[in-house]
Formats: sequence, C-alpha cells, structure tokens
Amino acid sequence: MYSCHLCGDPVEPVLDFGRQPLANSYLLPGEADKVWYNAVWGWCDACQMLQLVDVPDVSLVFNADYPYITDQSKFMMNHFRKTAECLEERYNLEGQKVLEIGANSGGMIEHLRRTKVIAVEPAKASQEILSRKNIPFWDTLFTEGIARTIRKEDGLFQMVYCANTLRSLVNLDNFFRGVLEVLDDKGVFVFEEPYLPEILRKNEFDQFYSENVYGFTITAIGRLAIHHGMKIIQIDELPDNHGGSIRYHLTRAENLPDARQFSFSYENRVRQQCGEMYEHALKIKDDFRQALIKCLMGTVGYGATAKSATLLNWAGIGSSLISRIYDSTPTKIGKLTPGTHIPIVDSAEFQNDSSRTVVLFPYNLKQEIIPRENAIRERKWLLYAPEVHYD
Ligand code: TMP
Repeated sequence: MYSCHLCGDPVEPVLDFGRQPLANSYLLPGEADKVWYNAVWGWCDACQMLQLVDVPDVSLVFNADYPYITDQSKFMMNHFRKTAECLEERYNLEGQKVLEIGANSGGMIEHLRRTKVIAVEPAKASQEILSRKNIPFWDTLFTEGIARTIRKEDGLFQMVYCANTLRSLVNLDNFFRGVLEVLDDKGVFVFEEPYLPEILRKNEFDQFYSENVYGFTITAIGRLAIHHGMKIIQIDELPDNHGGSIRYHLTRAENLPDARQFSFSYENRVRQQCGEMYEHALKIKDDFRQALIKCLMGTVGYGATAKSATLLNWAGIGSSLISRIYDSTPTKIGKLTPGTHIPIVDSAEFQNDSSRTVVLFPYNLKQEIIPRENAIRERKWLLYAPEVHYD
C-alpha cells in the first residue's frame, strides 16, 4: 500500500510502466545504468493528484550533469519570450525583482530587460549559458533552507517564476514554504505545468517518467495554494506546451479576500481517465513494436527526448529496432539512451541518413521539425501519440 507524499492518505496505483532508468541519464559507451525505479503512478483522491510512488532522490535526477537545454527548440524559445512579454504587461515589472527557480538556460528571464533577474539552477550546461547571458544564478536546487540564504543575500522578490519544475519535486510543501520565504508580501508566484486532463486526453503516457513526480489538476493546485495561505488569481491555458499546460498565478490569500476558487466539474473524471489512458498506452506499446518490426529496412529516431525513455524501456526497444537517434543537444550527442542504449548522433548528420522511416520522439514539436527536415529529404515519420500513426 502506498501513501500520498503530501497528505499521507492511501494512493491507488493507476499507471505502471515497469522498471525504468532515470530518463535524462544518458550514458557514455560502456557505462552502466546506475539508478532504476518502479515507474508506478498512483492517484490521491484527497489531493486530486497523480503521483509517482517510488521517487528517485531529487539530487540524482537534477545534478550538475543534467543535460536538457530548452534552447534546442525554437518553439520553446518563442514561448518563453512571449511569457516574458505577457508577465511584463500584466505586472509592470520595470525596476522589480524576479527569481526564476530551475531557470535552465534563462529563456524567459533574459527577456525581462528592465527587471533585476536572478536564477536558481544546478545544471552545469545551463549555467554556462546563463553566464553567457550575464544572468546571475545560485548553483543549487531550491529548498526552504536555500530560500532563507537567498533572502539574506538578495532580499525579497516581487515575482517568483518557474516552468516545469514543481511536478518534479516530491516535497512540494518545502518548496512552497521556500517560495513564501523569498516572495514580497504583495508578490506573485507564477508557474506553468503540464495539465493532467490534457495529457490524458492526448494519450501522452510517456510524459510520465522519473522527473515527473506529479500530474496536476487545477483543483490540486488550488488545494495546495490554500494549504500555504495562497490563492490562484489567474490561470492561462497553454495548449501547445508539453502536451497542454496551464500557467498559474498565485498570491498570498490576504491580498485577495474575495478571489473565487477555480474549480472544474470535469476534473472529477480524472481518476477514471487515468485508467482509460493506461489501456490506450498498452495498445500503443504493442502497435509501436509491430510498426518497427514491419520496417524491414530498419528505422532511426529523431529527438532523444526524456519522455522516449518511458516507451523504449517499457516496450524493450533497443538498437536492434532503432539503430540510432539524431539530436542537436551537445550534452546528449555521442551518448546512449538510458536503459535501452541506443546511440545518439548529431542531428547535423541526419541529412546524410537514407532511412525512409524515422520515429519522431518529440511528436509535440512536429510542426517545427517535419517541414524543416522534409525540405531536405522526404521521410515517412512514425509517431506514437495519441496513437501510432505516420505523418
Ligand atoms: P523535449 O520534447 O523534451 O523538449 O525534447 C526535444 C528533444 O529533441 C531534445 O533533446 C532536443 C531535440 N531536438 C532536436 O534534436 N532537433 C530539433 O530541431 C528540435 C526542435 C529538438
């Protein structure tokens, strides 16, 4: 029996993708996978949240070697530029202070030109980019204890921002206490996270991997906010981000005595939808394997996404079915995919690859990748969400 990381209530297992390695732990040739976990997510009815029950230690997941860099996608760079514009307009950030937690390469805060920005970021590859952009950073994971140190050194912030960070942190209470520690009394905490009902609707089961401890509903975030004396003041829908995300704006409840609570009756079905999505995922796993077996001339992949680890490891697909995966990320090139050990090759070499069929792992970025690559060489692209199909 599992219990909820937040409230301690029983958690019912609803998704099981078997034993998995850490999704972003790419290996050097000859290196062995070190950390494995049980990829089982359970549902907590009290918190209305999906959660990974066997959570790998966060310092193993987000360490100095963490390889993911948001700058690899034009779509994400545009998104963060637009986010900066929208936040500047909404909150008049001129002369204010903004702290971004898990800033990655600073794609959002670099655009807040008249604002003092500080990042918190433990990954070396991201820090190098932050340094090039002249963005000061704290080289650490964010916790309540670190927040106290930041407050002592840098004072209070009018905005704390993070994107795709909360879902990775098992101890959300500690994180929220840290945010309140550094947030000005009238300040706003803005964060974006994939929206669980959207992921379920699109069958994006592979969004569940080691870094994605939680699947959030708006109800869940509302309850978490109340627990920490905060309220949601605004939600923005971001339908194209990570399968469909929500940007939440929170402030201390005392600033908004009359703010209504956001609640959506359709979220009552989320538990049931988890079961339905799992049924679809089982079919996708079989269909995907069959599709690869039918590619008699062999297949290659494009985009060594973290989320691809879920399907590849669950379905037991290695280099005999997908000989290599092309990717533009310097920290991934020359390495092997975790668990399945498929070589990752520089995407600059993709144009010389004569494979007719290519698996597109970042299916969410297909508008960006397929037209660009097809203009160089026409391919048949194999995608696996919302079901296995060719594009
Ligand atoms: P993501 O879906 O987690 O953002 O990962 C996308 C991966 O795809 C990342 O490793 C970078 C890679 N990628 C390329 O190799 N070429 C591209 O043009 C794009 C957009 C992404």
